[in-house]
Amino acid sequence: MRIGILGSGLMGGKLGTLFARAGHDVVFSYARQRAKLEGLARAAGEKARAGTPAEAVKDADAVLLAIHWSRLDDVLHQTGDLSGKVVVSCSLPMSEDDSDLVIAHTSSGAEELAKRIPRAHVVLAFNTVPSEVLFDVFDARAKEPRPSLAYCGDSERAKTAAAELIRDVGFDPVDAGPLKIARYMEPFTLLIAQLAYEGERGPELAYRFEWRKG
Ligand SMILES: NC(=O)c1ccc[n+]([C@@H]2O[C@H](COP(=O)([O-])OP(=O)(O)OC[C@H]3O[C@@H](n4cnc5c(N)ncnc54)[C@H](OP(=O)(O)O)[C@@H]3O)[C@@H](O)[C@H]2O)c1
Repeated sequence: MRIGILGSGLMGGKLGTLFARAGHDVVFSYARQRAKLEGLARAAGEKARAGTPAEAVKDADAVLLAIHWSRLDDVLHQTGDLSGKVVVSCSLPMSEDDSDLVIAHTSSGAEELAKRIPRAHVVLAFNTVPSEVLFDVFDARAKEPRPSLAYCGDSERAKTAAAELIRDVGFDPVDAGPLKIARYMEPFTLLIAQLAYEGERGPELAYRFEWRKG
């Protein structure tokens, strides 16, 4: 797939690198310095390049939204029209100081995003995983058992693309249902973050919640 990265920080920088290593064409965009995007693209190899948000979404089969919630207006302004695009969001609707969710529990960031870009296909994915474990999960992707990663959305096309990307970086995708399940996944992500950053055993513990069939 051709993948546009909107927000090339901890999540976008790492996931974009892994998507490129998995064989996708990646455009890194949206950082404060163009040099950072170019450095990421160089390190990620020949499948990656740096661009503007508008360049990242142009011709993209999927777009990864990995920005702080407070940057949403600015990013959407810079991308232009996202009609028909698959938008995989890992962004959480956090307050400016990251102390709490600004949307809960009768809606979610993912649903509000879908309202903002009604002709795009939004899926929430990768939000529950701390960025620190992504490279280790990718390196261990050939080994069983692979950790599960839940995603939700209303568009089958977006969910198919997200599941492929989730598999490509080393997780087993778990379809958690429609986009409104984000109302539960987003607060759950805060619990995961608390375990990762305030618990005693760190990120390694935080993503090892397992999905057992039956
Ligand atoms: N980090 C995690 O482990 C994690 C896990 C799950 C979900 N999430 C969610 O994923 C989203 C992104 O998190 P993150 O940790 O990747 O954030 P981050 O590291 O702060 O990355 C955000 C990106 O936005 C860019 N940016 C910020 N202000 C900008 C501005 N004024 N102009 C241009 N670019 C600007 C940053 O540029 P610079 O690179 O120049 O700073 C950075 O590339 C958040 O919604 C977060 O809640 C994060």
